[in-house]
Amino acid sequence: MQVFNPPLSILQEEVLKGLKQYPKQLHPKWFYDDKGSQLFNQITTLPEYYLTRAEKEILTTYHSEITSLIQPNASLIELGCGNEEKIKLLLSSLRWGNRYVPVDISQKALNETVTKLRLSFPLLDIIPIQADYTQAFSFLGNNLVEPKIVLFLGSTIGNFEERDREVFLKKLAKYLNPQDGLLIGIDLIKSTKVVEDAYNDSQGITAAFNKNMLHHLNRELQTNFQVEHFKHHAFYNHKQNRIEMHLVNMKLHNVTIGNETISILPDETIHTENSYKFDFDEFEQMLHKVGLCMRKIWMDQQRNFALTYIKKI
Ligand code: TRP
Repeated sequence: MQVFNPPLSILQEEVLKGLKQYPKQLHPKWFYDDKGSQLFNQITTLPEYYLTRAEKEILTTYHSEITSLIQPNASLIELGCGNEEKIKLLLSSLRWGNRYVPVDISQKALNETVTKLRLSFPLLDIIPIQADYTQAFSFLGNNLVEPKIVLFLGSTIGNFEERDREVFLKKLAKYLNPQDGLLIGIDLIKSTKVVEDAYNDSQGITAAFNKNMLHHLNRELQTNFQVEHFKHHAFYNHKQNRIEMHLVNMKLHNVTIGNETISILPDETIHTENSYKFDFDEFEQMLHKVGLCMRKIWMDQQRNFALTYIKKI
């Protein structure tokens, strides 16, 4: 599958539009260059970042129950697979006839993951697909992957805005047949301190990850953000049940994009991402709106995180 890379001028236009809004915003896709992906992997191992640990605990504890829901000839399709650490926990209890279909936008990440998995599971049928699953997932309609279980882990669903989340799940639901299932990981509402600490780690990795977005833009779009003037700010917004990540500017400076210049004032903030936290009632209601329902829920011991098994209503 071909990934469509928009021309520079369109990307500059997009960024400019975000910077002209109030508050200013930049799209989270700019987090992920090579350095950003490396920092992200580091985040998932941090002591404060409970999400990955909790989800792995769930996959480890309940792997046989989870895989018993997967039909013997089903394909396991993972959207945004990233590295192999989590899926490994399920693959060893798969049966003959199952196949694994990892989908990722990064060819490099995909190759690395598949190479490692082929060594650990030489008999497993693996069909990697390089694609931006948020733009197109017609591969889900292919007979080759029927029946199927679609995995969407890491509470990535929490990084979508409410409207986009519904549109995404609705599109996904269209490709689900009655025998198919969805496994979605969601981060749960909990103590503010625990959540805020997760996005304000003591080693400053999340801060570096957030700021790296500006380095990425400076390189790709020839902007000149003065990265050293920004500080990372992540806080819990109680009204919206979400962590908000911002870059706060400390010193007035101008940024040039294409042939326009934008002033960034002291204390002005650029909103870079949200990470929504869920409760089951609200999640279930949202699923209902798009023709889906939860059939099973697994949680880690501390009830920080949940893996949900979802089917068509
Ligand atoms: N979906 C995860 C979360 O919201 C991972 C993630 C996405 C993340 N963007 C992030 C983690 C930015 C830290 C910072 O936590």
